[in-house]
Amino acid sequence: MKRGVSPGTFDPVTSGHLDIIERASAILDELVVGVAHSPDKGGGPLFSIDERVGFIERATAHLSNVTVRPFDNLLVNFAREVGATVIIKGLRAVTDFEREFQMAQLNYRLDRDIETMFIMAIPEYMYLSSSAVKEIARHGGSVRGLVPDEVHEAMQERLKRSR
Ligand code: PNS
Repeated sequence: MKRGVSPGTFDPVTSGHLDIIERASAILDELVVGVAHSPDKGGGPLFSIDERVGFIERATAHLSNVTVRPFDNLLVNFAREVGATVIIKGLRAVTDFEREFQMAQLNYRLDRDIETMFIMAIPEYMYLSSSAVKEIARHGGSVRGLVPDEVHEAMQERLKRSR
């Protein structure tokens, strides 16, 4: 039984994240998507932890071996808690590499029983990120297709109120 954890802030989840989750779920027996509270990231998340978890739960409802859980501790401790032995990360353009390499090294140092593995983003999602999606939406651009429809609508609503 191979259980993995796919961590992130997911503010909000994008089609790129969902592609990685789907591909990881196909090679593992079970995948736990770990949604980090990340209260300090980028001036605070746009969506609450419950909203972020809910978006992913509904977008992955068709994947029977995927569960979604919030976490607010060290990733390796969270992985241990849920019985995962592998951390799955998506890797986009080269700019991701340095940060991901550092996190993988530190996590390995913290717990040698947990391995980090990377799945390469497909070209279509190579430059897609939650922060780019928020920036586009904030300036009135359409992010349809880059996030689940429900997230697109929630962003329109949320950003309309703050504009
Ligand atoms: O989607 P993000 O914001 O790039 O995800 C970053 C995340 C949540 C994976 C990372 O910040 C993390 O692992 N946070 C948990 C705290 C932790 O374990 N930090 C040490 C990692 S070296």
